[in-house]
Amino acid sequence: MNGGDPRAIGVFDSGLGGLTVGRAIMDRLPDESLIYFGDTARVPYGPKSPDTVRRYSREIGQFLLGEGVKAIVVACNTATAHGLAALRAELPIPVLGVIEPGARAAVAAAPSGRIGVVGTAGTIRSGAYERAIRELSPEAKIVSQACPLFVPLVEEGWTTHEAARIVAREYLTPLQEEGVDALVLGCTHYPHLKTVIREALGSGVRLVDSAVETADELARVLDQRGLRAASGAEARHRFIASDDPRQFLRLGARFLGHPIENVEIRTLG
Ligand code: DGL
Repeated sequence: MNGGDPRAIGVFDSGLGGLTVGRAIMDRLPDESLIYFGDTARVPYGPKSPDTVRRYSREIGQFLLGEGVKAIVVACNTATAHGLAALRAELPIPVLGVIEPGARAAVAAAPSGRIGVVGTAGTIRSGAYERAIRELSPEAKIVSQACPLFVPLVEEGWTTHEAARIVAREYLTPLQEEGVDALVLGCTHYPHLKTVIREALGSGVRLVDSAVETADELARVLDQRGLRAASGAEARHRFIASDDPRQFLRLGARFLGHPIENVEIRTLG
């Protein structure tokens, strides 16, 4: 491995939710350094237009490239839906999104081909998950549902609150009636609502979360391109936000699974 490539992996999201993907990467690739950028000044991306989200994604991509990263993971589903193709076309390093890995995991989890997809309004409107699933399984029966109230519920910490239960039932009853066998949690925040989602759908439905699958794909890409850090390398994890670090420090630990000691601030745009 020629001593390995010590450059960091860039990971970004509209805010904190992508830390769940960051965590999966840290678990899967403990020798790799990470630079996580959360666009907390401009979150949420879900309701914004494709052009706006694409512009934000390109700004962040250039910023991370300037920080010297060797690959970028777009941990945000909405930014993947609207910005991945542009980033891949423009950047000289590998760029991975969360939608292809999520689609692969969904097809594997639902041999019947009845797959539900939930995400932000932007992700669902883009049809990106449907396209990715159909590429793997042309006969799949896909039922999609935008769940715009899920993100604020998670940000508020109301993940098992009665309000979350009511909202989940409202959004998910049609999917349950369609008899989906697997549900893609196509948004960074939704894995935190697994309890109420399970209650609304019943325990027979498999919940698919793309974080682990994305980390596996990253490992494959790094290996293929000879970009892996040396085994036993000292990994550094930097966290950067575009606005007030207090919320990042407070909520970030919940998403990451352990405390965050320092958040740098960097304004873009
Ligand atoms: N990170 C976004 C996603 O995965 C959810 C939050 C937002 O709307 O910005 O789609």
